[in-house]
Amino acid sequence: MRHLLSTEDLSPADLADLLDLTANFAEIQTRDIKKVPALRGKTVVMAFFEDSTRTRTSFDLAARRLSADVVTFSAGSSSVKKGESLRDTVETISAMGVDAIVVRHASSGVPRRLTEWTDAAVINAGDGWHQHPTQALLDCYTIQQRFGSLEGRRIAICGDVNHSRVARSDIDAFTKLGAEVVLVGPRTLLPPSLEGWPVKVEADLDSVLGDLDVVYLLRIQQERLGSALLPSLREYRARYGLTRQRLDRLRPDALVMHPGPMNRGVEIDPEAADDERAVVLDQVAAGVPVRMAVLYRVIGTGQFDLDDDTPGREVAA
Ligand code: CP
Repeated sequence: MRHLLSTEDLSPADLADLLDLTANFAEIQTRDIKKVPALRGKTVVMAFFEDSTRTRTSFDLAARRLSADVVTFSAGSSSVKKGESLRDTVETISAMGVDAIVVRHASSGVPRRLTEWTDAAVINAGDGWHQHPTQALLDCYTIQQRFGSLEGRRIAICGDVNHSRVARSDIDAFTKLGAEVVLVGPRTLLPPSLEGWPVKVEADLDSVLGDLDVVYLLRIQQERLGSALLPSLREYRARYGLTRQRLDRLRPDALVMHPGPMNRGVEIDPEAADDERAVVLDQVAAGVPVRMAVLYRVIGTGQFDLDDDTPGREVAA
């Protein structure tokens, strides 16, 4: 794998391979020493032009736990503030000899453009409304951990699908792994055309709740929404929020998922976020081994034997 730009570049076999590798790295994360020398000598740049807590931190941890050198680039404290262009910025970083650039940007398509300006591997950490492939991988891993596989599972993705890169990546990955996806939300928050999307659509969350394996709540992105799309947050919660009452109608073995950050009291009530069926922190935890797997596939040499558990092969932090 040269880059990871989109789930659309991954076949079902590629997804299965990355999830298997994730399980391997997850096992390493249970050890006293969580660090292995798989990417020793490699350099990974975190280039975040948009805010992040989960994705940036877990990519950073993942790279360090593979023994890569990590450089963090923040647009807000860089020469971007002096007007340097994206291309000049990327070429400047590349000239220092880096192996991978993990990029988040508010504009769709930026990671693919970067591949034209650098010889480094590019990993998409979220671009505009377009894609968030490592989020999809960690979501698939979380579901697989609970149910064994995604095959035949019924998953509702509820909320602002139109502005959601998470939804686009999840729909693609979930359906490639055999799940059925139902989109739920107000028509104003669904894409204008769903032609070619492998999904069903339901206007009413209550009509599907009792029949779901997973209810996946999307964040209401107040920074991307115009007021014309949503009458009020109170009305949204009343129709689409996972409230205490709706929680009671979910199956006892169903999962409540959310990519974070959560708007408690809007798309998810605190009782639902803290319910034992909520796996939001499992999703976060999966982020580290998933991103280790992606970095390893993209810039690993394949010379590190993951099945070798000889004591002492780990490296001290
Ligand atoms: N899920 C997600 O991308 O979270 P961050 O914006 O905190 O990285």
